[in-house]
Amino acid sequence: MSVVVLGSINMDLTTYVPRLPAPGETLFGSSFITVPGGKGFNQAVAAGRLGAATQFIGRVGQDAFGKGVMELIADEPVDVSGILVDADNSTGLAVINVDAQAENSIIVISGANMAHDAREVARCHEALRSAELLLLQLESPLDISLAAAQAAREAGALVMLDPAPARPLPTDAYQLCPILTPNELETEVLVGFRPTNPTEAAQAASILRERGVETAVIKLGAQCAYYQSGQESGFVEPFSVEAIDTVAAGDSFNGGLAVALAEKRPLAEAIRWGAAAGALATTKPGASSAMPTRAELMKLLT
Ligand code: RIB
Repeated sequence: MSVVVLGSINMDLTTYVPRLPAPGETLFGSSFITVPGGKGFNQAVAAGRLGAATQFIGRVGQDAFGKGVMELIADEPVDVSGILVDADNSTGLAVINVDAQAENSIIVISGANMAHDAREVARCHEALRSAELLLLQLESPLDISLAAAQAAREAGALVMLDPAPARPLPTDAYQLCPILTPNELETEVLVGFRPTNPTEAAQAASILRERGVETAVIKLGAQCAYYQSGQESGFVEPFSVEAIDTVAAGDSFNGGLAVALAEKRPLAEAIRWGAAAGALATTKPGASSAMPTRAELMKLLT
């Protein structure tokens, strides 16, 4: 069972602060960590740690952050031979603040992530020969991701798009990506209103499905998730955990959901896997560093 992830990889520079600073304000933080991140790479680490044979396709720059990222990810259970070193662009960077309530704000400098071109599609094509599922996000060029989605469909693989960070999508994105997993903010950008409860999430999911999505999964933050496909719909309650850092919780959700679907688990069970993986990611600091293992997931699920 294997998963291919095409997307971003960043060096995350994360500060822990009592609260997010106001404009013009200087705040003392309590600590600082440097860990590999990027929505694409986080999702790859989640899938790998949860037991899928996972290949990540992306780019770093030929710079100190790129070298640092490559050293830090060497021990992850992810095939990173599909990472190209780009001499013309800098390594992606994310500057992150996490407050005492575990909430975060993130600024991304895309660098090499937005320089993806036909070479990424070719590497995906190769990787998709033996994969059940392709995972995409929006931190790399959409046209390249959609070309990879097309290749995945031709190879018979399922395609899941996490529309993060938020941006409107063209019609073909809905048709090429049967599984779409926006959070509340991203849903608002896509459908024009922010769902605050399962009833509103159901309305949003119906709109997304009318545009061509087969399964819409609306992540509702602390309220957890609503899902709707042609055959079924439902709401998954949140798992109770002690959250210290919500960075990459959505990425972990997607990794968990992807692995469960690649293992051909029923949709309702797969959403629970996503919810449990997302919850576990909030209990540890950092992005890829916070992705749960399969043993941790099983413990929470049982
Ligand atoms: O989703 C969290 C991620 O967003 C961080 O790891 C950061 O790199 C940004 O891409």
